[in-house]
Amino acid sequence: MQIYKTEHTEQEMCVFAVHLAKLLKPSDCLCFHGNLGAGKTTFIRAMIQHLVQVETVPSPTFTLVQTYDSLIGQLWHFDLYRIKQPEELYELGFEEALAGGILFIEWPDHAKGLLPVNQLQLHLDHAPKEEKRVIKITGDAVWANRLAPLNQH
Ligand SMILES: Nc1ncnc2c1ncn2[C@@H]1O[C@H](COP(=O)(O)OP(=O)(O)OP(=O)(O)O)[C@@H](O)[C@H]1O
Ligand SMILES: [Mg+2]
Repeated sequence: MQIYKTEHTEQEMCVFAVHLAKLLKPSDCLCFHGNLGAGKTTFIRAMIQHLVQVETVPSPTFTLVQTYDSLIGQLWHFDLYRIKQPEELYELGFEEALAGGILFIEWPDHAKGLLPVNQLQLHLDHAPKEEKRVIKITGDAVWANRLAPLNQH
């Protein structure tokens, strides 16, 4: 079901991402959809910088995965654009990630059926006119309940 849909500037989107980060807990899997340059890394970076005291959050474009220790558990930031077979996920520590980590995944379609169920889906798109992005979030009823506070933002 649709949980949230709004247009945001980059700054607004990063503030929103922090509100979402505050609602996360271990074993959450967040899938980020959107074309090249849609803002997936920017959104995830804002969440990670809220949850971890780090200066820089590099894009995992080439490393494919970056991990961080946070107070709410280990964070796993995957960019699957470059994987050719879904099974390559296992070479990136995927099983360890599934054991209680919080997963942020760019290009989740490249993982085919290997991702855990009950994912939160975030769709980022260029807004039709302004330099903004349309952010649409979908998930099941459990996610909708958990994320209800977001609709105040
Ligand atoms: N909400 C926004 N409004 C306007 N510009 C944005 C917004 N979010 C991100 N941008 C800009 O879009 C550009 C691309 O962002 P980003 O690298 O996060 O995209 P991406 O979806 O991760 O791309 P890729 O698929 O290549 O990994 C950056 O220059 C960033 O500053
Ligand atoms: Mg990216």
